[in-house]
Amino acid sequence: MKGCSVANIRTAAGIGLFLGVCIAIAALCLTLGRTPSKDASPSFSSGGDMLEYLMYQGEIRSKDGLLATWYHAANGKSEMEEALKSDIMILEADVNVEGHLTPNETNLPIMAHPPAVYSDNTLQNWLNSVLKSTKGIKLDFKSIQAVGPSLDILFAKSSEVKINRPVWLNADILKGPNVNHEVGVNASQFLNLVQTKFPDVTISPGWVTLYLPPLISNRTYTREMIQQMYNLVRDLPQKITFPARAVLTRSAWPHFYWLLQQSDRYSITLWQGQSDPLTLEDLLFIRDSSNPQEIYYDIFEPLLTEFKQVALNPNRNRLFYPGGSIQLYFQPEDSDGLLVNWYEADISFKREFFSNNSGMITLNIRVQDSSSSPQVAFPKSPTQFPLENYMNVILASPNPWGVFLKIEDQDALNKTLKVLSKIYDRKGLNVPVWISMEVSYGKFSMEGYIQGKDFLNTINDIFPYVTIAPSWPVPVLGLGYTELLVQDMLMLCEGLWQEVSFQLNAVALGKESLSAVKLLQASPMYSLTIEHNSEQGIFHDGYPGLMAIRSQAEDRIYYRLQQDYRNMFLASIFTS
Ligand SMILES: *[C@@H]1O[C@H](CO)[C@@H](O)[C@H](O)[C@H]1NC(C)=O
Ligand SMILES: *[C@@H]1O[C@H](CO)[C@@H](O)[C@H](O)[C@H]1NC(C)=O
Ligand SMILES: *[C@@H]1O[C@H](CO)[C@@H](O)[C@H](O)[C@H]1NC(C)=O
Ligand SMILES: *[C@@H]1O[C@H](CO)[C@@H](O)[C@H](O)[C@H]1NC(C)=O
Ligand SMILES: *[C@@H]1O[C@H](CO)[C@@H](O)[C@H](O)[C@H]1NC(C)=O
Repeated sequence: MKGCSVANIRTAAGIGLFLGVCIAIAALCLTLGRTPSKDASPSFSSGGDMLEYLMYQGEIRSKDGLLATWYHAANGKSEMEEALKSDIMILEADVNVEGHLTPNETNLPIMAHPPAVYSDNTLQNWLNSVLKSTKGIKLDFKSIQAVGPSLDILFAKSSEVKINRPVWLNADILKGPNVNHEVGVNASQFLNLVQTKFPDVTISPGWVTLYLPPLISNRTYTREMIQQMYNLVRDLPQKITFPARAVLTRSAWPHFYWLLQQSDRYSITLWQGQSDPLTLEDLLFIRDSSNPQEIYYDIFEPLLTEFKQVALNPNRNRLFYPGGSIQLYFQPEDSDGLLVNWYEADISFKREFFSNNSGMITLNIRVQDSSSSPQVAFPKSPTQFPLENYMNVILASPNPWGVFLKIEDQDALNKTLKVLSKIYDRKGLNVPVWISMEVSYGKFSMEGYIQGKDFLNTINDIFPYVTIAPSWPVPVLGLGYTELLVQDMLMLCEGLWQEVSFQLNAVALGKESLSAVKLLQASPMYSLTIEHNSEQGIFHDGYPGLMAIRSQAEDRIYYRLQQDYRNMFLASIFTS
């Protein structure tokens, strides 16, 4: 529905007109996107989106990977026939060459999972049968020898009949957790064969993995493994779905999360080893920390059914990855960051406030002396409140909240990160967490502020699963956000794998804002947060800066405004 965004219309029109236009456009979208009847024999690209195909077929009602269903190892004739008769949507089958690694090896692709290297079913026969159905196809190559001949068969078949459905090609091409020896399918050969022989597919490139119980090893996918895979596929034009061993995915989520942000053509297919002790909570964490269309679940029963029941219940508390974006967490309408609410912690807030509202809350954090714990400080009040206790109130709220921690100095930073790490280790930190400080670096070097590198290194050392929210020291902003200030901030943040939200002040933005947009362009994981409050000036002092940035983009820009300024800005945007 992206093409039906109403964001631009809305800024120009009054709210009443806006609603009318909305309804008209929604009706138009419905007409255009109506599911055609099955016998219309639509032409669907084999490189097309699996969820769009299943919607098109009327198999699922929304673009949600949880609704897709899988038949595992539909290899032999009887399994294949059973799968074809069932209501399962996608057939997954293993391909190898006949007699692989025996003296009798041929180059005939057959349907078999090692150790079996003979089968009553050839790939040719499998395709002949499956293409008569409407089921989706996932072929899992067990050796590089099988890839070339199989793609030749696919190509020949596609010139005979329309494939008319997504085709996924899977191969494990890199070493994954707990694997040291060279195994799997040669990566460059596999990817080259797909590009030259049959490129109109979704590629499913995986890691060879071994699961070991925690008593023996806690190893999981590393940042290097994920980066190595990304380097292999980053320039490919296809849709890519990364198969990930579900039992090891939660513990490596920061890396998978990063991978998913790199392209909207990427998804993850979770799979389960026969005896992997996967838990419901692991699956809920992944579900709650991703978009529904980004994850497929090839999971055994009875866990799958239990998971679906719980996951699709809208009244449960979410288990969100604290380093995830607030865009993903709050899902504001039209991806408009202006619709995310911000509050400043106030001494008068009671539990009720948190159950009646929702948004990001700013907590000013300081420590009294080197022996005390981090405290939340309140404006115009000497009272302080231990951070850990305050976090527990927020985490217990039934409404979605995220925390913006504005940290006074290095000591407070270290102690805050330790508190967060402790809550995370007991799996309790399930809301977005931002860490913000004014930092000194390059062209914005300034006495009395933390060194930018110290800020980043401390986060990466103690607790990295946050959004990093650096800002420039206020005294350097006399000429606004100049090219040099922006360049050096980008240089400071280069190489970070976290979400980063640059903190900008609306008054300074009014002086010079053009370069600020370059911050957004540098990475899909960068966002901007514009601050304005009465300490910085009256509403109109910040208005030119707010309008300048608002006219550039709506996605990935947030507005941390005090409540009355926020209302004035909303009124000026939506009713002008
Ligand atoms: C290979 O083929 C020969 C001749 O058909 C047969 O006798 C032999 O058992 C086969 N070997 C294997 C390992 O299947
Ligand atoms: C994969 O194949 C390429 C070229 O055929 C070769 O250069 C490379 O060493 C192989 N990679 C591995 C890991 O064996
Ligand atoms: C894995 O982690 C668990 C829980 O933190 C710990 O008890 C166990 O000793 C670890 N195992 C290894 C091999 O490090
Ligand atoms: C919170 O909501 C409850 C029930 O909707 C209402 O009775 C109460 O007055 C609200 N409290 C505040 C502080 O808004
Ligand atoms: C804070 O943590 C960093 C990184 O672990 C360490 O290098 C630094 O000495 C610590 N500073 C303070 C004041 O605790």
